[in-house]
Amino acid sequence: MIVTTAQLFKHAYGKYAVGAYNINNAEQAMGLFKGAIASQAPFIIQISKGARKYTDKKMLEAIIRAAAEIFPDCIFAVHLDHGDEETCYDCIDSGFYSSVMIDASHDPFEKNVAITKRVTDRAHAKGISVEAELGMLGGVEEDIKVEAGNACLTDPAEAEKFVKLSACDSLACAIGTSHGAFKFKGKQSLHFDVLQKIKARLPGFPLVMHGSSSVPQDEVARINAAGGKIAGSMGVDVNEYLPAAKLGVTKINIDTDGRLVWTRVHREFFRDKPGEFDFRPPGKIFIEEYAKFIASRNVLLGSANQLADLRTSLGK
Ligand code: G3H
Ligand code: 13P
Ligand code: ZN
Repeated sequence: MIVTTAQLFKHAYGKYAVGAYNINNAEQAMGLFKGAIASQAPFIIQISKGARKYTDKKMLEAIIRAAAEIFPDCIFAVHLDHGDEETCYDCIDSGFYSSVMIDASHDPFEKNVAITKRVTDRAHAKGISVEAELGMLGGVEEDIKVEAGNACLTDPAEAEKFVKLSACDSLACAIGTSHGAFKFKGKQSLHFDVLQKIKARLPGFPLVMHGSSSVPQDEVARINAAGGKIAGSMGVDVNEYLPAAKLGVTKINIDTDGRLVWTRVHREFFRDKPGEFDFRPPGKIFIEEYAKFIASRNVLLGSANQLADLRTSLGK
């Protein structure tokens, strides 16, 4: 069942974080829905601009509609990840998305507010909610690369002002994470001090944490043992998900970790079976492994076993 992102946030706020997972193909969708059922967790399925271009946005929408039929007990929202203004309007007008993210975080404050406000006006008219971003994460996001030195944490006073002026429904904050597999150089930790200050200024307001993959080192070791060359990778400490959720982080974005599962499964499979060229056997292994990964993350986010209570609160 597709619900609004706002409904998911209302149930989760302050108690747990909803996992937001990106999909690009049918295998990822199957693994995600299977894992969500196994862990009895609500979730957000995210489509990035790159994913919409990879096959075709209509293909992804059809996969999601089919998955909703195959897994009727799943409760989830559909979200545009890192949209620009034009893509947000396309998604808002499509009638398929529960929420969109307008990412104008690379623009100066006033311009970010103006762009976000235009998107919220158009989205709210159709009952769709808007995630905006303030502050700058490091790492790579499709066509934008932010060097670590240029990344900057969200200013709590600016966050309060930004939410008032832009009328956004949730805010992605930079609290020390970055996109991709190379997040930290030294000791890894979220900036809970900044998060605490943002929560104090925006009580009850859903915050979003991007760049939340944990980059499991055993996964990286297996990839490298099977011919990969991933060096110096480091992710978010999974034990920091739930403390962040208690401080208002209601949506936690995880994509890179899923790509690592895919890479590990396929590298190991073709290393061990060099004569194989049917992609379905590794595809099947990936679906099962990704389902296990999703279920494990939902436990850490606190969203596992929330489905029954959510269903009751939605009156379904
Ligand atoms: O934050 C970016 C997400 O990991 C999506 O990545 O833009 O390559 O699809 P993508
Ligand atoms: P990761 O690269 O840490 O998985 O972050 C994903 C993300 O923020 C998607 O918007
Ligand atoms: Zn992101």
